[in-house]
Amino acid sequence: MSMSKNLIIAIDGPAGSGKSTTAKIVAQKLGYLYIDTGAMYRAITFLAIRDKILDNQEKIIELAKSCKIELNFTNGKTSIKVNDEDLTDEIRSVDVNKNVSDVSKIEDVRKVLVKKQREIGVSGPGIVMEGRDITTVVFPDADVKIFLTATLDERAIRRAKEYAENGTKIPVENIRENLHRRDTIDSNRKVSPLRKVEDAVVVDTSYVTIDEQVKIILDVVTKKANESGIEININ
Ligand code: DC
Repeated sequence: MSMSKNLIIAIDGPAGSGKSTTAKIVAQKLGYLYIDTGAMYRAITFLAIRDKILDNQEKIIELAKSCKIELNFTNGKTSIKVNDEDLTDEIRSVDVNKNVSDVSKIEDVRKVLVKKQREIGVSGPGIVMEGRDITTVVFPDADVKIFLTATLDERAIRRAKEYAENGTKIPVENIRENLHRRDTIDSNRKVSPLRKVEDAVVVDTSYVTIDEQVKIILDVVTKKANESGIEININ
């Protein structure tokens, strides 16, 4: 018997582990909504830099509370708008990369964004949501929990390639340092640190192709759907 319920698929992992790429393809193949929660932290960080309020937590919290964030996922591409302004490209800047972990340490910023994420998550069809605290805090009861990981060197090489493809040349060593710093902050912060929950499936992407990592996740999803009598269609 099949039911019309859809699955909530939660993916956590460190920067550069392939979460966005993998989650996007998984969502597309299932016809689910893809939600990049990092983009929300990045958008707040971008605005805090632009408004020159990075050193004022109260103002950053106020900003997070008052802004309207819209995430869109069409034809495999995500875009983000804040108060109707498109910030899709802006949130990927080197400056945002440098400061986003510090902004995401602020407890009240997290509270506001987690609330928004839960609202998006339960409102729509099935979802694939990725971040640092999706399996631990946002959706601890997600149907499928994945912890994506890869070695620091591999992650740095991937990020360098991504930058190069977008026309920015940054030495791998600099990226490696930035990732290492973000890993340390994300994993050691007081509020919702990045950690693997017991029932998450660990997928190490260091030595597998994107197709392979997508297949591993879709296999986990299919098994869960079968067990729960939930119908899924994989395109
Ligand atoms: O996945 P990303 O690199 O775009 O995430 C940017 C930063 O945002 C990351 O360093 C930590 C933070 N983040 C978070 O704290 N919680 C999330 N759910 C998503 C991202």
